[in-house]
Amino acid sequence: MPARHAPDATLESLWDNEPRTLSELNEIIRKAGPLVPGATQAVLGEGPDHAEIAFVGEQPGDQEDLQGRPFVGPAGKLLTRAMAEIGIDRDAAYLTNAVKHFKFEQRGKRRIHSKPTAGEVKHYRPWLMKELDLVGPKVVVALGGTAVLALTGKQIPIVRARGRAKLAGWNGYVTVHPSYLLRLPDEETKRRGYEEFVADLGRIRDLARADPDTGELEFAAQ
Ligand code: URA
Repeated sequence: MPARHAPDATLESLWDNEPRTLSELNEIIRKAGPLVPGATQAVLGEGPDHAEIAFVGEQPGDQEDLQGRPFVGPAGKLLTRAMAEIGIDRDAAYLTNAVKHFKFEQRGKRRIHSKPTAGEVKHYRPWLMKELDLVGPKVVVALGGTAVLALTGKQIPIVRARGRAKLAGWNGYVTVHPSYLLRLPDEETKRRGYEEFVADLGRIRDLARADPDTGELEFAAQ
């Protein structure tokens, strides 16, 4: 049985008709529209609704906004490659974002990602919490600081938070956002950063295989 997050009493009063399925929730998100105007569409979570691992990113990027799917741009491709390398099947995982709409600054023809404010993260939080409750993953992964903020309400530097963590009641794991790896300054730093990220994904894979009663980890052979 996947671990369930204890329902958050403060969220219960939010819904006139509380969504009972992911598609009901997604319909609400779709209809709500972006908090900050500009996005093409809401980018909803993707993956089976009883996925063992749920990855939470920051917000959709340019490609995600156009295609209407999470993690399909450059950072998403890096994440997908690292998952495949360590034996996490992307199609069996659940991928979503703290914020469901792309926010950007237009510079000429380019749309440059603009980081969501703490207020925007808070606005989207009830949807994220409900979404994770409906998925019921064994492990929730926070990719980067915005995901940590969304899940814990706290701004914590990733260097301090990295590793296993309780995230809003779920068994969780904090690691860097894949776009951070793309921004590292040189090839050697990028290579090391990527290796550490893949090692984190290996620990996440093992956590998802842990015995639900004892919490004992079953480490995969290296
Ligand atoms: N970055 C994110 O945080 N999420 C996406 O879906 C794509 C890039």
